[in-house]
Amino acid sequence: MSTKKLEITLNINDEPCRLTVSANETLRDVLRERLELTGTKAGCDDGSCGTCTVLINGQPARSCLTLAVEVEDEKITTIEHLAQDNKLHPLQQAFVDHHAIQCGFCSPGMILTGLAAIREQQAELSRNEIREAISGNQCRCTGYAKIVDAIQAVSQEKG
Ligand code: FES
Ligand code: FES
Repeated sequence: MSTKKLEITLNINDEPCRLTVSANETLRDVLRERLELTGTKAGCDDGSCGTCTVLINGQPARSCLTLAVEVEDEKITTIEHLAQDNKLHPLQQAFVDHHAIQCGFCSPGMILTGLAAIREQQAELSRNEIREAISGNQCRCTGYAKIVDAIQAVSQEKG
């Protein structure tokens, strides 16, 4: 059975990106396999692990459950966009400083999810609020405490 092809423009990391996709192609596969943005990880195919999380208009979203054709002209941010001028984003640096990374597989999704929570905070996030924010993201290595430490450190700075 042939799948319909569509020409679309995606806004990825503030760059327009014109490409032809299949109607059933996920955003995750477009990012990883067509655009080589492999910071977005592929851990499952059913939305359960959170490793494929990107920001769509600033909100965390599962790119494995999002069709590329659904997000034409939306603002998509991947982990590759956070470091600027060879300098890690403060939240990335906090993950390093707080030893919140072991294998690193969950880190892009965790960091983008944490970043969205920090950007929306009205006051410093409590540990429970951080746990709630990252509750859809699985980590098989760290036990989560250090990830919460890292997000909390940046949340405190923002106040
Ligand atoms: S790869 Fe998308 S939630 Fe697991
Ligand atoms: S650091 Fe390995 S899955 Fe989180």
